[in-house]
Amino acid sequence: MRLDRFLSNLQYGTRKEVRRIIKAARVTVDDQLQRDPGFDVPEGAVVALDGTALTQDLAVYYLLNKPAGVVTANRDARDRTVMDLIADTDMRPGLYPVGRLDKDTTGLLLLTNDGTLGHNLLAPGKHVPKTYRATLARPLTAAQRGPIETGIAFKDFTSRPATLTVVPDTADRQVELTIGEGKYHQVKRMFLAVGNEVVALHRIAMGPLTLPGNLSAGRYRSLTAAELAGLKALVPKR
Ligand code: URA
Repeated sequence: MRLDRFLSNLQYGTRKEVRRIIKAARVTVDDQLQRDPGFDVPEGAVVALDGTALTQDLAVYYLLNKPAGVVTANRDARDRTVMDLIADTDMRPGLYPVGRLDKDTTGLLLLTNDGTLGHNLLAPGKHVPKTYRATLARPLTAAQRGPIETGIAFKDFTSRPATLTVVPDTADRQVELTIGEGKYHQVKRMFLAVGNEVVALHRIAMGPLTLPGNLSAGRYRSLTAAELAGLKALVPKR
């Protein structure tokens, strides 16, 4: 992150004001005087103003309703990313998306700069449940249901038993599926494996988090204290 942005994110002034501070030779990065507002602050660097190390920013936790058409990545040469949806003032060093939704998948995505929590939520063996609403190309049949619920052996993994419910009044074409893993294209692969196909996919829950009905696509908000406590309860303390 640019040095001027780093300082303005920490509320040391507007971009213009912090540039003035930087040019006045008041800022060091890892003990080196730094007069370039565009200097790229390395991850974990100690930034000091007038010799005082700046307090590390507090962890942030954003719950985003990911829209279709953006990729889940920190940067991408071709596509807009979920990070492009975050306002400058909410950006933090180390902010990243926890897990991944496909470009065409919509719904709940957690972004945080709390690497420990993010890492623990995804750790193999953790099996944090994720619930998706999937729209299928064809009505779900009883024969298709069985393997999805009991587990499907893929080349790279066998899916754990999953919970599947049909959404009423959708002619058996919309389902809610809760899975314990988060393998690449997992939900799409599960339905393909039983002879159906996902035509739209929307994540509605992850662990204790559910997508708020009033959060429109492309918008995000900070987790509430209760949501954060629920997430932290899932992972061991260090
Ligand atoms: N499963 C998929 O197939 N795609 C996603 O984006 C998430 C889960």
